[in-house]
Amino acid sequence: MKILVIGGGGREHAIAWKLSVEGHQVFGAPGNPGMAQCAQLLNTSDYIAAAESIGAELTVVGPEAPLAAGIVDQFRARGLRIFGPTQEQAQLEASKIYAKEFMQRVGIPTARFVRATTFETASAALKEFSFPVVIKADGLAAGKGVIIAHNAAEAEAAVQTLGPLLVIEEFLTGEEVSFIVISDGKNVTPFEATQDHKTIHDGDQGPNTGGMGAYCDGRIITQADADRVLETIIYPAVHATGFTGFLYAGLMMTTDGPKVIEFNARLGDPETQPLMHRLNSGFADTLYHAAGGDLTGTALQWKADPSVCVVLSAAGYPAKPKTDDVIMGIGAAESTGAKVFQAGTKLTARGLETAGGRVLGVTASGPDLPTAIRNTYAAVEKIHFDGMHYRKDIGAKGLKRW
Ligand code: AMP
Ligand code: GLY
Repeated sequence: MKILVIGGGGREHAIAWKLSVEGHQVFGAPGNPGMAQCAQLLNTSDYIAAAESIGAELTVVGPEAPLAAGIVDQFRARGLRIFGPTQEQAQLEASKIYAKEFMQRVGIPTARFVRATTFETASAALKEFSFPVVIKADGLAAGKGVIIAHNAAEAEAAVQTLGPLLVIEEFLTGEEVSFIVISDGKNVTPFEATQDHKTIHDGDQGPNTGGMGAYCDGRIITQADADRVLETIIYPAVHATGFTGFLYAGLMMTTDGPKVIEFNARLGDPETQPLMHRLNSGFADTLYHAAGGDLTGTALQWKADPSVCVVLSAAGYPAKPKTDDVIMGIGAAESTGAKVFQAGTKLTARGLETAGGRVLGVTASGPDLPTAIRNTYAAVEKIHFDGMHYRKDIGAKGLKRW
């Protein structure tokens, strides 16, 4: 099958890699230097023209921005098969206020919240919460629009930084889980649960990022919890919206059961990297059928081996990433058996250089989680660029379950 993958980050490299491993002819727009190894890149932002020029039988969208801009509606209007949510469904991610009001209306468990539209209402709303309190900007912010404030001064500063359109909500405690499904509008096929590591430093310290690493080992939640997530969160959301695409529920597993921290209308980054590494077969077939509105009869097969992805970020990320540093050692890292997914990279006369905050996602497996973690860090150590930063504790939460 000819498949077009829209996007150019680590998630899209992992999607394109998996589809090409499954034997498909993959195209990427705009792609990145890593994707060029498994896909033919089309240097255009006219995605409809790109899909038509290659005769794409399926288009898969990675990032949120084209979804929020209505790419799925536009493709469908031209009779082109595309997997993703409509512009309206993508509001579940694009607007936190929309998502919270949707959850309240449909009865999906989530943190208690107040919506604020002015600085004055935000300051007043803060009085309804104890500390820590969570303050979220309404729009898309690449994982960086959330501040957890521990006292009144921090909360007021957060309101000034992120406001005036805000969601202010109660702080939930528990383990965070990324629960992602493929939805055809009625039926869903879940991926295995993954765990992301959102803050820049070990031990969940420092500012939030888009995600510094993730793992997938089949043990993150029990089957009973997965069933509860499907019943109380995923199916109500899908049935209320007719959601098509990847529906990502960012969950807090609280003592009162799973609650939604956020919905995303796409696959997670970096969750996709370990998911694609661990997925055995059935990806393209499942997406094709889901895009046609009929998931029945398709299945995803998983490998037994857990997988781990460690993100290598540039100096200064997430505030102001440094770029233009030469990257060495990807070949050496891959010769250990790891797969290095590229994100913020570019090819220049000097070779491969850094071009963004999250540069690479080094991904490896092993017969058990401790070995998968060791294998991933052994590959990480082969790579170098100036200012390279990574967390040393990716997967550590999972070790408690082994
Ligand atoms: P979000 O962009 O909504 O996913 O928030 C980013 C991160 O902030 C989440 O992954 C959590 O680690 C943290 N967070 C967001 N909302 C809450 C909450 N209500 N309680 C505790 N932590 C939260
Ligand atoms: N890794 C979190 C996200 O993709 O939103």
